[in-house]
Amino acid sequence: MSIQETATLAFDGKIYELPVIRGTEGEIALDVGELRTLSGIITLDPGFANTGACTSAISFVDGEKGILRYRGYPIEQLAAQSSFVETAMLLIFGELPTQEERTEFGEMLGDQALLHEDLMHHFEGFPPNGHPMAILSAVINSLGAYNPDLLDIQTEDEFRQAVAKLISKVRTIAAFSYRKSIGRPIMYPDPSRSYCENFLHMMFSVPYREHVPTPEAVQALSLFLLVHADHEQNCSCSTVRMVGSSEANLFASVSSGICALWGRLHGGANSAVVQMLQHIHEGDFTTKECIERVKRKEFRLMGFGHRVYKKFDPRAKVLKACAKNLLDTLHIQDPLLDVAQELEEAALNDDFFISRKLYPNVDFYSGLILRALNIPLNMFPVMFSMGRMPGWIAHWHEQSLQTATRIHRPRQIYTGFQERQYVPMEARQA
Ligand code: CMC
Repeated sequence: MSIQETATLAFDGKIYELPVIRGTEGEIALDVGELRTLSGIITLDPGFANTGACTSAISFVDGEKGILRYRGYPIEQLAAQSSFVETAMLLIFGELPTQEERTEFGEMLGDQALLHEDLMHHFEGFPPNGHPMAILSAVINSLGAYNPDLLDIQTEDEFRQAVAKLISKVRTIAAFSYRKSIGRPIMYPDPSRSYCENFLHMMFSVPYREHVPTPEAVQALSLFLLVHADHEQNCSCSTVRMVGSSEANLFASVSSGICALWGRLHGGANSAVVQMLQHIHEGDFTTKECIERVKRKEFRLMGFGHRVYKKFDPRAKVLKACAKNLLDTLHIQDPLLDVAQELEEAALNDDFFISRKLYPNVDFYSGLILRALNIPLNMFPVMFSMGRMPGWIAHWHEQSLQTATRIHRPRQIYTGFQERQYVPMEARQA
């Protein structure tokens, strides 16, 4: 018989035994699920900085050592040898695909790239300057209306259909939202092109001139998406799991992930970084002044800091190398690269950042890759969403299969008025 490991909590003269849970990488948690029932006590953890909301086998982050692995594979190995679509399959289905599986999935993506013609009318309903993130989340959610048979996924085959639709159509919707915003005709997908090539075609081809991206551009886009593909229980992933925990459908759940990602502290940081670099480049303030203003807490150094990484973010290293390499091979002189490197060096040598363990995160250099690919600034978080889609889907699916899943419903410590009596309008004091 295995003896369950426990930890002891002493409060108010009583002792409570809390089961200890250990992960495969030695992470330790105290299971407080029964604590309130036994004692009336809840745990309080604003921002969930010290709360494990679930067990998960999808990605592993060790923030103290700067490690990120998808399904056990180090991010550096995947970045060097895999592609976005293959990595998406790894995250969602659990293993690297065989050639046959990869080919079959590629064909499914090709078949699913088109949008229902009625869905195309939705793009006409948005104002010309509508932010593409608003369009993306709305249209992804509306996929549920066009796929009523996939609102209640019961079989693995139905799940595969939904996966192919989302991974393929998110790219079409992203490109269409951009075309709409600049008043250009929509370019239909071309199934003969690879995933990333097809996206660049829908973004930049015009009826009288085909856009033929360089292999380096296609590879950099694939790498960008791959590096963003999952990151365990981040804000948008937790949102997807939160929404999915009510048994909301996959389309609605991932659409909520897009909304969560939009904020400047999460996926909106990549465009905020470039805006900050532009301010320095255009002389609004110098690098030194920027650092001083951050230290006075006037604003945050965007693309720096992370809830989990306290040494370095391995994704930032991969993306910095990719950005430099892409600019070199495309012979692009982007002055913002120099600004970014100068700013990084200044921050890494300043005690404010050293003492708080603030390092460049995934968003610090990613925008330079997107700029080199001619992706406009307001599309940056959309690109992050395309990359993160496999992670959101994988987590929604994992959760749907976990028998222990309960609806997510945190508690609170109430700090408002105690009971008081209703006062009729005529008796209220001004
Ligand atoms: N610039 C300046 N100070 C910072 C920064 C920053 N980027 N990040 C954290 N701090 C300071 C913060 O002011 C606080 O200082 P003090 O102890 O004096 O009050 C301390 O560091 C701890 O900060 P925190 O807000 O408790 O840290 P957090 O774990 O809640 O926040 C974060 C994490 C990513 C939201 C934060 O580092 C941040 O705002 N970074 C800038 C935005 C950004 O780059 N976001 C992208 C995150 S990575 C990819 C993603 O999730 O999308």
